[in-house]
Amino acid sequence: MKVDVLLGLQWGDEGKGKVVDVLTPRYDVVCRFQGGPNAGHTLEFNGQKYVLRSIPSGIFQGDKINVIGNGVVLDPALFKVEVDQLMASGHPLTERLLISKKAHLILPTHRLLDAAYEASKGKGKIGTTGKGIGPTYTDKISRNGLRVGDLLLNFEEKYKIAVDRHKEMLRQMNFEYDLEAIEKEWFEGVECLKKFKFIDSEHYVNKCLKSKKGVLCEGAQGTMLDIDFGSYPFVTSSNTICAGACTGLGVAPRSIGKVYGIFKAYCTRVGSGPFPTELFEEMGQAMRDKGHEYGSVTGRPRRCGWIDLVALRYAIMINGVTDLIMMKSDVMDEFEIIKACVSYNVNGEETEDFPYDINEGIEPNYVEIPGWKINMTKMQSEDEFPEEFNNYLSFLENELGVRIKIVSVGPDREQTIERYND
Ligand code: GDP
Ligand code: IMO
Ligand code: MG
Repeated sequence: MKVDVLLGLQWGDEGKGKVVDVLTPRYDVVCRFQGGPNAGHTLEFNGQKYVLRSIPSGIFQGDKINVIGNGVVLDPALFKVEVDQLMASGHPLTERLLISKKAHLILPTHRLLDAAYEASKGKGKIGTTGKGIGPTYTDKISRNGLRVGDLLLNFEEKYKIAVDRHKEMLRQMNFEYDLEAIEKEWFEGVECLKKFKFIDSEHYVNKCLKSKKGVLCEGAQGTMLDIDFGSYPFVTSSNTICAGACTGLGVAPRSIGKVYGIFKAYCTRVGSGPFPTELFEEMGQAMRDKGHEYGSVTGRPRRCGWIDLVALRYAIMINGVTDLIMMKSDVMDEFEIIKACVSYNVNGEETEDFPYDINEGIEPNYVEIPGWKINMTKMQSEDEFPEEFNNYLSFLENELGVRIKIVSVGPDREQTIERYND
């Protein structure tokens, strides 16, 4: 048995949460393997909308097991908020959610350090979600981090050493803060966290595979935000790519099965950093309005632009994508013409390969595709697709070399159309 992986191919917010929820009935276990509460994964069903941050998106489908893997960074305070909301809406979790002892803890001072680093960068700031992600992964790599398993033994002592170190760093940056209030919430979060089962998730997941259980791994962020392959330094601090599922869960590379790569019919980005196909003024605003492109975590307006096939091909290559999933097709319903960037001019020279640096001197070359100008949101099967939409799908499959297995025509669970019968 192999694990399947579902991950974002663009700059995040592709619709991972929705599709993981739709695919969950085919699996026994759903696992998050990286990122933390910088993620905001939205699900809609039965007229209700939920936004998940640290809890995997398989939590709403019956009694499937959900795992927070070792590669995730967890903030107990935000975790408690999420748990309380889910419990209040009638979704008990304690039996169905397992947490890796090796997942790293986001301390209150990590959040402060995130803010301090951003402030010190001035105009060059990353535009982080402010959730302490960078500083927590920094401590993990520099071997100063605290893990969920640390909560079980002499935690106060370990916490004090870490926080004193952080306080000294904040002092050096002349950063003013009020730690007491956030610390109180954080320790209440720790008590909530302790009600859950802490596990050796690498053993758990591999035992699942041995006993032929289906495992789906849910990525957070997107390939263009990957710490190694994204638009560095305007990236997040984890490996968001398929390989991240191996290190973030303890799964061997040869145990990876299908790799679902998810993308929007256009492109968005939150925060700073280069975005070659970005649209400004009316056109960008039209996409933002139609697609409700406002961050699910911070509420920030998302930057919008045309689909970028240079970046998508790169993401497909890095992840070994076997099946594509196209989201938010309906957002393009009213467009006369849809543009797709097929190559870049880099300092005057045309290339289809994603370059080292996309910060400057990049000019996208577009192909124009006629729009379908039909409301697709009520469609149930691909037999109903208009000809122009089928042409768009064929064009993309041809350009990307991978089939588009699922098409999404609205935010609801039901607005999902599967193609190819296998
Ligand atoms: P994630 O972070 O990848 O899970 O994506 P987000 O939840 O942050 O952002 C995707 C947004 O698009 C959410 O508000 C979803 O409810 C919404 N959404 C998902 N699929 C579709 C779709 O096919 N059409 C439309 N109009 N909205 C969608
Ligand atoms: P999901 O899982 C979109 C962006 C931030 C910022 C950069 C670094 O919902 O797709 P961080 O807080 O991680 O240090 O911020 O990454 N970012 C996301 N953008 N979707 C996300 O998650 C993101 N998580 C982080 O806006 O530019
Ligand atoms: Mg999101």
